[in-house]
Amino acid sequence: MPRAAGTRLLTEPRFVGSFPRADVALDPPLAEVAFVGRSNVGKSSLLNAIVGARIAKTSGTPGKTRMLNVYAISGQSHVGARHAVPLQFGPMYLLDLPGYGYARAGKADRAAFRRLVHHALRRERLAGVVWLVDLRREPSPDDRAMQDLLAEGGCPVLAALTKADKLPQSQRRSRERDLRAILGVPEDQVVVTSARTGEGMAELREAIGSLISKATE
Ligand code: GTP
Ligand code: MG
Repeated sequence: MPRAAGTRLLTEPRFVGSFPRADVALDPPLAEVAFVGRSNVGKSSLLNAIVGARIAKTSGTPGKTRMLNVYAISGQSHVGARHAVPLQFGPMYLLDLPGYGYARAGKADRAAFRRLVHHALRRERLAGVVWLVDLRREPSPDDRAMQDLLAEGGCPVLAALTKADKLPQSQRRSRERDLRAILGVPEDQVVVTSARTGEGMAELREAIGSLISKATE
């Protein structure tokens, strides 16, 4: 039986807006989780996979996300494009951000993206950060700079190792072990993910849920 459009919309993730400044006040104020990582690492794709809807724009060309894009999540289960997605967290915002290290962006753009990300990490209601690192690659100098920034900031960090589907099973274990050693994120806060296959999504949703409940306790 077809669902009434209205009932669906009530529980579906919603695009709130695209903001050039990171100090935008969101109404109502809710806990927030920000996605950071190098350009093209899969931030927007992972956000979509987590909520089970194609709300964030993705692209094979780096530099797609250029502002602070905000999505409101109701926290109730909703019916995604293909299947029901159990979201284990209360109402909150997900913040999609531009990537760092995009060499072809002009110097001024790069500086603006960097400022936007740095300020977003200081938002008052930030409950945690999902830091994305490509499972196949060595962390770049920009990744190292982000690691330092996150360590200074003191906000809880979940590391998502992305695009696991691109790596043969035989290489995954050792890449995962190497990255775990390098990133300096607690063992249980590192999740191997694939936005393509859905690997790691249940774990990531649960971890985000814990961040939110800790922040709102
Ligand atoms: P910017 O907004 O430019 O910083 O990029 P982003 O980090 O938001 O990356 P985006 O989600 O736009 O994805 C970049 C490219 O990687 C796209 O072509 C995606 O289809 C691809 N991609 C993202 N996640 C995965 C994944 O888990 N597996 C595979 N195979 N491809 C992925
Ligand atoms: Mg993006």
